[in-house]
Amino acid sequence: MLVNNDWSKYTITDLTTLKGKRVILRLDLNLPYDKGQITDRTRLDEVIPFIKQLIFAGAKIIILSHFGEKGESIKPVADLVVKSLSGIKFVEGIDIENIRKEIDSLPLGDGVIIENTRMFVGEKDNTSSCARNLASLGDVFINDAFSASHRNHASIVGITDYILSYFGPTFIKEITNLSAASHPEKPALLIIGGAKISTKLNLIRNYLDQGVKVFVGGAMVHNIFKERGLEIGDSFYDPTYSAPASLYNHPLLITPTDVVLLDGKEVSVDKIPKGGVVVDCGKTTLKNLDEEIQKSKTIIVNGPLGLYEKGFYYGTEHMLTSVANVIGAKTYIGGGDTVLVAEKAHVLKKMSFVSLGGGAMLDYLANGTLPGINAVTKSK
Ligand code: 3PG
Repeated sequence: MLVNNDWSKYTITDLTTLKGKRVILRLDLNLPYDKGQITDRTRLDEVIPFIKQLIFAGAKIIILSHFGEKGESIKPVADLVVKSLSGIKFVEGIDIENIRKEIDSLPLGDGVIIENTRMFVGEKDNTSSCARNLASLGDVFINDAFSASHRNHASIVGITDYILSYFGPTFIKEITNLSAASHPEKPALLIIGGAKISTKLNLIRNYLDQGVKVFVGGAMVHNIFKERGLEIGDSFYDPTYSAPASLYNHPLLITPTDVVLLDGKEVSVDKIPKGGVVVDCGKTTLKNLDEEIQKSKTIIVNGPLGLYEKGFYYGTEHMLTSVANVIGAKTYIGGGDTVLVAEKAHVLKKMSFVSLGGGAMLDYLANGTLPGINAVTKSK
């Protein structure tokens, strides 16, 4: 893993050198979208100052981003970008020659946002022809999409084979903070929740191996209960999970001792009835977790502790409030649901660092790098 000081050689420190250059800026503008509305523009607001600096420097800007899950048009996001930044226009369609013509006709300091990268053939398979086509639109590539850089896609990875490549400031902020979180000052505590334990095993193992305590909540913990021979009723669990007893019986692994059921009852974890559905952590668990939180110098949180999407966010809110109020601790949180609950509880601003990445944060903390990081550093 690179140490913080090394990042400067992968960034452009003097933006005036970009005057007249076509700068391809890979962003993650995969903004939450519901019923025809963008519901949260945080990821856009975070990158606007840098886009303005590029405009001021006289670069021509070509914004790339993916959006949504089905390869739909990025137009709702593009409309917001165009409204927020004068001089940026949306180029519809995926015809590279047409996009090139639009870029050629731009005055310096103006830019375009092009269609959802996932509409381009070969993006998701990281084909060289897709990467080359995208790279051919610019002179310099800047990846400022940390939260999408766990994807081995052409606009993240392959493109760096064909063009001078750098990281943007939001990216550097993420890796600087998360590299500190990946080797935390101890005593440290990782609090992890959500549904799919199989995708988080490496991360859990990585922290346990460093002597860090790991609290597992959310539906993930039902797998561990099952492995220990406990009844979990009809609670959700991850059927693709399989882990050795050395992990689920690890002395630094902390799991709930009591839980809340769908009917509102609180029971000890060995009293979950057949047909019962666990929706949150119980009060004793939260009290014990508070004590662990108070003892920690570093706390990292990713994922809700309960069935948050059905309104069971009490445990998550309680835990985040407790994390936010520890005096002198470094606190790192990430993941869309976690950030939303922290915002709702008015504690987001009290955290030391809020990552814009969900899956990317987890992968980075588990592996110390991401495909998008390797691509830029290798291309130098
Ligand atoms: C995210 O929203 O976490 C990123 O944009 C990655 O999106 P993806 O899971 O669709 O790759």
